Amino acid sequence: MSSFNQKVCFITGCSSGIGLATTQLLLNRTAKVFGVDFSEFKHELTESQSSSFKFHQADLTKENACEDAVAACQSAFGKVDVLINCAGIIDGWGSADTVKDNELERVMAINLTVPIKMMRAVLPGMKERKSGAIVNVGSKAATSGASSGIAYTASKHGLIGATKNVAWRFHNDGIRCNAVLPGGVSTNIHNSVQQDCFDPAGFNTFFPIVQLHVSKDADGNPIPVVGSDHVAKTIAFLASDEANMVSGAMIPVDNAWSVI
Ligand SMILES: NC(=O)c1ccc[n+]([C@@H]2O[C@H](COP(=O)([O-])OP(=O)(O)OC[C@H]3O[C@@H](n4cnc5c(N)ncnc54)[C@H](O)[C@@H]3O)[C@@H](O)[C@H]2O)c1
Repeated sequence: MSSFNQKVCFITGCSSGIGLATTQLLLNRTAKVFGVDFSEFKHELTESQSSSFKFHQADLTKENACEDAVAACQSAFGKVDVLINCAGIIDGWGSADTVKDNELERVMAINLTVPIKMMRAVLPGMKERKSGAIVNVGSKAATSGASSGIAYTASKHGLIGATKNVAWRFHNDGIRCNAVLPGGVSTNIHNSVQQDCFDPAGFNTFFPIVQLHVSKDADGNPIPVVGSDHVAKTIAFLASDEANMVSGAMIPVDNAWSVI
């Protein structure tokens, strides 16, 4: 099990779901965690977790928000050793013939533009120290065209391109960049669907695909098989020194859904 030995880990989307699970796991593994989210951080931490955690509330899509958050982390903890780009939203399953401008812009902004700006903000310090690890949270939709709407699919495919680009560009600078590709996980992400952007035809095309991946309760209701904790452990591995020759990798965390 990797220990983070006081490394400074910067996590976006720390208040819920996968970001929250990762925050708790890294704190338990002796990291210092700087968490950013536009939603309040409402979770109780133990005394030792609290002393290693700083929360910064911000909408990262706003101008200079990524740079300001990194500056706040540097004044709190002095540096950023690990960046985890986890904040994200889903679309309403809109297709190329139905997607609305505002949805396309909203989804691309938080799922793709923000992670790139976050990487831009932390890279100078990582280059100077010749050390850094970045983990981007992709999705099954980062490599498949069948598991979401066009905005989410394009944003996550774009994030994979950005991950590979950073991995190669900085592979001689001691900086690694990887991605996890989770399957369906029970979190609060469905609250991010804008109802006026919901496309029933797009959803009905996606639904049989997700049925291949989930389990069912006694009444036949779908239940995800992947938990936030499974994704958090994979993120922690990629962020840790145990993965120190792993860069440019896309690791599915989906109980084999990606092989279809
Ligand atoms: N839940 C799934 O099934 C699933 C599957 C594959 C990938 N993912 C990815 O996992 C990541 C985390 O999602 P989750 O499922 O934990 O969802 P979640 O909704 O539980 O958590 C996402 C967090 O991101 C924050 N956030 C959203 N927009 C923000 C902004 N503009 N500025 C700051 N914070 C913002 C939210 O407030 C929220 O706390 C996302 O990138 C998502 O695409 C999720």
